[in-house]
Amino acid sequence: MNPNEIERVLTQHDNVAQAVVVDQDPGTVAYVVLRAATAAADTRAEEQVTEWQEIFDRLYGSNTSAEFGENFAGWNSAYDRRPIDVAEMRQWRDRTVERIRELEPRRVVELGAGSGLLLAPLARDCEEYWATDLSSVGVDELARHVSADPALADRVVLRSQGADDVDGLPAAHFDTAVINSVVQLFPSGSYLTTVINRALTLLKPGGSLFVGDIRDLRTRDYLFAAIALRHPRATDADAVRRLAQKHGAKDEELFVHPDFFLDIARSHPDVAGVDVQLKQSNHHNELTRHRYDIVLHKAPSQATDVSGCPQLRWGDEVTSLAELDKQVAASAGPLRVTGVPNARLAGEAAALRAVEAGDSARAAELARSIDPDSVDPHDVSLLATAAGRHAVFAPSAAQADRFEVVFVAGKEKLIGTYPVADPARPQLTESPAAAHRGAALSAQLGDWLRDKVPARFLPTSIVALDDLPLLPDGTVDRTSLGRVAHGLGDPA
Ligand SMILES: C[S@@+](CC[C@H](N)C(=O)[O-])C[C@H]1O[C@@H](n2cnc3c(N)ncnc32)[C@H](O)[C@@H]1O
Repeated sequence: MNPNEIERVLTQHDNVAQAVVVDQDPGTVAYVVLRAATAAADTRAEEQVTEWQEIFDRLYGSNTSAEFGENFAGWNSAYDRRPIDVAEMRQWRDRTVERIRELEPRRVVELGAGSGLLLAPLARDCEEYWATDLSSVGVDELARHVSADPALADRVVLRSQGADDVDGLPAAHFDTAVINSVVQLFPSGSYLTTVINRALTLLKPGGSLFVGDIRDLRTRDYLFAAIALRHPRATDADAVRRLAQKHGAKDEELFVHPDFFLDIARSHPDVAGVDVQLKQSNHHNELTRHRYDIVLHKAPSQATDVSGCPQLRWGDEVTSLAELDKQVAASAGPLRVTGVPNARLAGEAAALRAVEAGDSARAAELARSIDPDSVDPHDVSLLATAAGRHAVFAPSAAQADRFEVVFVAGKEKLIGTYPVADPARPQLTESPAAAHRGAALSAQLGDWLRDKVPARFLPTSIVALDDLPLLPDGTVDRTSLGRVAHGLGDPA
């Protein structure tokens, strides 16, 4: 049987609306859009977008007194739901602004601009700054601030629309597109793919798409365990596991594996490469532990490719900051150090291992401690600055509690900061609550297919999608299918 025939069998199932079967390494994968799941997921996705719109309308409508660019209302920590310290939020914003400035923005489009935390400092140095947001109340508030400032009023254009809607925005016009701290609110991986494909159409050749503050799928289990460990009922390891699971089943926000963007860089004809970076910060909080930023550089790109630079392995070729200092001083061009234990995350990672080993008391201690053998990225930044270099931090593909650092000459445009994909090829996006709902449905379909298709033709896996990712022309984006999956069934 060929893939088309298997697609035809699959679509005979009452619950299958669409099926696409593709040969992928290491086997055949069937991507299905399930009717029950689709109807539910479509409604859920729309509901979710509307819910966020209502939440942000209320938030922006009731916080109108903050100075423009200083409205941090709603930035609460996942650990305890309390506002993140304002000094930490200011540093988070300033570092984000610095990273966007490194892209030399002149004509910017920002999707999901919120209260203008980035627009306020960036727009006055740009020729044009177009900003959209789902929340019309938020956009009205932005308009009030912008119209009061002549330096902004003549260059800022505001529109109230979702990030997947680029109507009215000029194509191939901008050098920089920004989507910061919005992806977690997207209803699915396919929505994210659609937004990225459309945002890329807004960029001129050579432009950059900055996507910031993305929740890291690799570290999700550390986060859920750390949240559970703070709960008063987390009295033993089973209770911690149950609380973490319960938290996951309610979590509607999107997590994305950095490989998602590596795949886009490899498969999208317009993308020259991707820069994936952990946050630059001296703070340890939810945002610096569990979120990262990426830049997709549209071809042709002037960015320096550091993917093939010389590298050293931490714990083997370099074992301390003093040794690292010497190695950096001795190196001429870019230098990468891999497998560095991340002080921001080592405690939470050890805590999760303790929960798995059944020791919740030890886990609670570990979650709040800093492993003395781990390395704080901030100390590496200081070391780099003292050596006249700049350090950028990237995720370590298969080792979520470690980072990679690349020493470069200065703050420049880079690609290839995250060059090696996770060998386990995990699913790349997940909205935990949606995954929970979809997994049961795809498992049932796997059982049904076993009776219809000879064993040797069974797909290696069945992947249920909320919808198929689309290219700007409305056809299925086959190359990104693997990036948007959730809810795996395995009939083979
Ligand atoms: C956490 S705020 C971030 C705002 C801003 N980008 C920043 O970094 O300060 C998220 C914003 O995304 C908007 N938003 C949520 N879902 C959206 C969607 N699907 N399309 C466009 N905007 C969305 C919300 O209204 C809110 O203003």
